[in-house]
Amino acid sequence: MNKKIIYNTSEVVTCSGFKPKFGKEMNDIGIIENGAVVIEGEKIKAVGKETEIFDKYNKDEYVLIDAGGKTVMPGFIDSHTHFVFGGYREEEFSWRLRGDDYMDILRRGGGIISTVKSTKEASLEELIESGKKRLDSMLEFGVTTVEGKSGYGLDLDTEIKQLKAMEEINKNHPIDVAVTFLGPHAVPQDYKGREDEFIDFQIEKVLPEVVKNNLAEFADIFCEEGVFNIEQSRRFLREAKKMGLKLKLHADEIVQLGGAELAAELEAVSADHLLQVSDQGIKDMADKGVISTLLPGTAFCLKEEYANGRKMIDEGCAVALATDLNPGSSFTNSIPLIIALAALYMNLSPEEILTALTLNSAAALDRVEETGSIDPGKKADILILDYPSYKFLPYYVGVNIVKTVIKDGKIVQKN
Ligand code: NIG
Ligand code: FE
Repeated sequence: MNKKIIYNTSEVVTCSGFKPKFGKEMNDIGIIENGAVVIEGEKIKAVGKETEIFDKYNKDEYVLIDAGGKTVMPGFIDSHTHFVFGGYREEEFSWRLRGDDYMDILRRGGGIISTVKSTKEASLEELIESGKKRLDSMLEFGVTTVEGKSGYGLDLDTEIKQLKAMEEINKNHPIDVAVTFLGPHAVPQDYKGREDEFIDFQIEKVLPEVVKNNLAEFADIFCEEGVFNIEQSRRFLREAKKMGLKLKLHADEIVQLGGAELAAELEAVSADHLLQVSDQGIKDMADKGVISTLLPGTAFCLKEEYANGRKMIDEGCAVALATDLNPGSSFTNSIPLIIALAALYMNLSPEEILTALTLNSAAALDRVEETGSIDPGKKADILILDYPSYKFLPYYVGVNIVKTVIKDGKIVQKN
């Protein structure tokens, strides 16, 4: 059996926990100075002080991994991305730099609709190929679990093609993929003014096919002014829940519609974006244990005010952070960028940021019992950094300091 001990660390930051951390708890990151981690098979067997670990476990029976006096921590979890898509929108990015508005571009048939066209044209193989390459890049940043959404099909065949691409990638890439069905991501041109009928189509034709073929774990919707309203979102998500999917929501991103309140009402796993969330929405998320997933890359690229993560944590929410990697509003998979924005512009502490990118992101994917921290019994998804303190993560601005990535107990990446 695969048996390893990671030793000679400056610290093991465990982020220990089997439930999400709310409010102040986000600062508890469980540091063990000069810690060591025992791995057996794909799982973590033990974690503790190095001296105690070596008293208890016989060195000779283990492959020893020398951390070089540096920090060891859980793998990052990117819990909100749209990493499978055809084509790019570099032209649109230049228009936005010139002052064009993201939603205006969508209304003109660009934006998401333009990626829908390219994704329809791409073959399944092309989507798998480009999706895998994007995950290769994420692995370099230390991401060991990622969420991916459909939503660039809008029709039955293309949605299924996107979901199948993720299923295939999940089988053949070290990173675990949690799959979300985002059928109602935009209103197709031929459904303009008939949004209710499009929701009917998603509920009657697409959802059952997704569920029957076991192609997604979560359902999501773009609940936004000019896209799908609260009533349409509620109807779609309720049906999805009845059919056995867990729920997520693109909520209160551009206009305050009450998406966070809806997420709480439906006991969604997470509400995401939340740039415009109301005070009531914050309270409801905290009360119902809905994870508040914040995506500062999107606010940065759209030059919007950042979501008020500080307030959410102070009011007792469990905050997660993610990249929102997609070809439009946030074309980045850079974890260092997300850390920098969260630290410098959202006033989150280094400890809160770590929790948000590990344990709470695992919770946003309903996987908090299997990954997201260095705890016995969990998957051995572990990073060795190039510096002796986790505080270098925000301090070394925008730079990737991940040196070694261990996924399911195996070294899968060395930078
Ligand atoms: O999370 N807001 C809606 N959906 C994506 C953007 C998708 C795109 O622009 O292609 C988001 O930001
Ligand atoms: Fe998104």
